[in-house]
Amino acid sequence: MKLFVYHTPELTPTDKVPECAIAVDVLRATSTIATVLAAGGEAVQVFSDLDQLIAVSKKWPPEKRLRAGERGGAKVEGFELGNSPLDCTSELVQGRRLFISTTNGTRALQRVQDSPNVIAAALINRAAVVEFLKRKQPETIWIVGSGWEGSFSLEDTVCAGAIAHSLLQQTELSLEEVAGNDEVIDAIALYSQWQDNLLELFHQASHGKRLLRLQCQEDLKYCSQTDVLDILPIQTEIGVLKKG
Ligand code: MLT
Repeated sequence: MKLFVYHTPELTPTDKVPECAIAVDVLRATSTIATVLAAGGEAVQVFSDLDQLIAVSKKWPPEKRLRAGERGGAKVEGFELGNSPLDCTSELVQGRRLFISTTNGTRALQRVQDSPNVIAAALINRAAVVEFLKRKQPETIWIVGSGWEGSFSLEDTVCAGAIAHSLLQQTELSLEEVAGNDEVIDAIALYSQWQDNLLELFHQASHGKRLLRLQCQEDLKYCSQTDVLDILPIQTEIGVLKKG
């Protein structure tokens, strides 16, 4: 297994695809996707374009769908949900498909959608992702952070480091064998420094600060937990993620 970390969709190569691609948007798209599927959602379908989301979701029975739209951290007017994982209770999402568009997270998923194995990872489902990698043993793995509008984000890189760190701990593989680029070592170093203080790291992060200004303190707390959901969101058709 050779692991590569890319901090943003823009930094991700366009001329090839890995055997396994892991999209990460800890604050908050991939945390929300994992939460919806763990709460019994039928699937999550991602869109970069809000109008396209509306057009496709209209073909779905109203009682079987939910629409979530987020821009700049805030809920888009006219949508039932924004991007808070805490709104995704089992009473609300059970048996329904969530149609979602967010500022950066859905773009990261689209960037790697042609890989044969596309997974959504956050800190809350890190253990399930590592289990999948140990079982599947993909030759090449890309972890793609969503960042914020093309810039690096601390929370996605620390999650990439959490996945790599756990993979090294649970296998016989050495760092030299696993690390495909320098960003892997960088991500592990970030996680090693902050692993016992992830909420504090999120308070330092630029998107964490943006969400705090939007009164999303509880979202930060929730998303900073590690290994609390045993769920693997995996792409079953382009743009559609289901419980793996
Ligand atoms: C994104 O896609 O940029 C994020 O998930 C934004 C958010 O926190 O809602």
